Amino acid sequence: MENKRPEWSSYISFIIAAVGSAVGLGNIWRFPYIMGKCGGAIFLLVYLLLIAFICVIPLSVELAVGKSYKGDPITIYDKINPKLKIFGYLCLITSILIPCFYFVVGGWILNYMWIFLVNSIPADFAQYFGTLNSNPIIPVALTLIFLLISLVFPFIGLNKGIEKANNIMMPIFVVMLIILAGYALTLPGAKEGLEFMFKPDFSKFNSEMILLALGQALFTLSIGIGIMMTYGSYLKKDVNILKSSYTLIFFDTLVAVLAGIMIFPIVFTNGIEPTAGATLVFISLPQIFLTLPFTRILAFVFFTLLFFAAVTSGISLLEASLSCYSEYFKMTRKKAAVLVFILTSAIAIPASLSFGMLSDFKILGKTFFDFLDFSTSNILMPLCTTAICIVAGWIIPHIKQEAFGINFYAKILGFLLKYILPVILLLVLILGLR
Ligand code: PFF
Repeated sequence: MENKRPEWSSYISFIIAAVGSAVGLGNIWRFPYIMGKCGGAIFLLVYLLLIAFICVIPLSVELAVGKSYKGDPITIYDKINPKLKIFGYLCLITSILIPCFYFVVGGWILNYMWIFLVNSIPADFAQYFGTLNSNPIIPVALTLIFLLISLVFPFIGLNKGIEKANNIMMPIFVVMLIILAGYALTLPGAKEGLEFMFKPDFSKFNSEMILLALGQALFTLSIGIGIMMTYGSYLKKDVNILKSSYTLIFFDTLVAVLAGIMIFPIVFTNGIEPTAGATLVFISLPQIFLTLPFTRILAFVFFTLLFFAAVTSGISLLEASLSCYSEYFKMTRKKAAVLVFILTSAIAIPASLSFGMLSDFKILGKTFFDFLDFSTSNILMPLCTTAICIVAGWIIPHIKQEAFGINFYAKILGFLLKYILPVILLLVLILGLR
């Protein structure tokens, strides 16, 4: 008996799960620090333009290709033309590698939830974070726990696992985010924080900003590993793809902006630099929480919020490879889940040790963690995105109608897809290699 492909039980469940995939560490951890480094409001402006008019194209294309060709990325490329299967494999490799560093951050989040819930709170977070990462066991164990939590739901299946988890976690996440952003607005640094976010200083504009904004937009929309193809493949026939993409972009951007509204007033209230970088969330912010009333509750809610964001994205990351194993390689979900666990742990363990025991182990001058981040965000994701744009624009042009519709705006998007996007993406790829 042939197994019927699963479908989303409702359109809303699809939107919630796709937003769950898009909204993640990229919005709350990465977006504010890149924006901080790139001068605030001017970066936001560039980012908004790019996400609304450029990144909407690959997002719609991935969803439309999934919806039309029904399958995991390898099956889909195989159906289009067996010679293109290599791009399906590239998607699979990307979906194996991203969780291996993403879940290390997930492990740190679990650790911080724990200390703010029950443990004694450290006085100096810079020192604490260093000590935590030089421990050979704790970060590894936490990474694996995070992996198991994220794996349970795709293992259970689409409707009872992935949908249920998102339907519960995402609303709680939104409520927590609104409460924390509202709280941040009552702080003395709120005005300065809001000005930093919304009052553009055009003199800070530079071309590197465009590249960073594009990379961030692709990452946050989960484009370039095939998950949007996979999620699109569970869609029913009558869904409007372009409308869905804009809904997704709207909520994803709203969350990123709310995350900024939550973080920058806190940062300015305490006079630290908004350019603190990747350690902003794990060193600077916790340090600031110590100076605010209700430290424990505030910090615990903040890290729980990060946890929900990371798990819902983690679920989609694992579903991307799980769907390949179970559909293309015809494994049972159980076997596929075991394989995902083994592969991810084998790569994630050295990644989580690369801040301590393995800090001297370098590939191309980067620690293993940084190398995974660099090779996926700067090379594999832009490469897979370029591939799907070229394939959709030139080899299966009928997909344009499914992705964009048939009006004048659709024609513009179709033109951009065919002639402009490949050039822009190749540029991102080449410049990202520097
Ligand atoms: N979009 C997620 C974030 O912003 O954190 C990261 C991500 C999830 C990337 C799933 C790729 C993916 F397939």
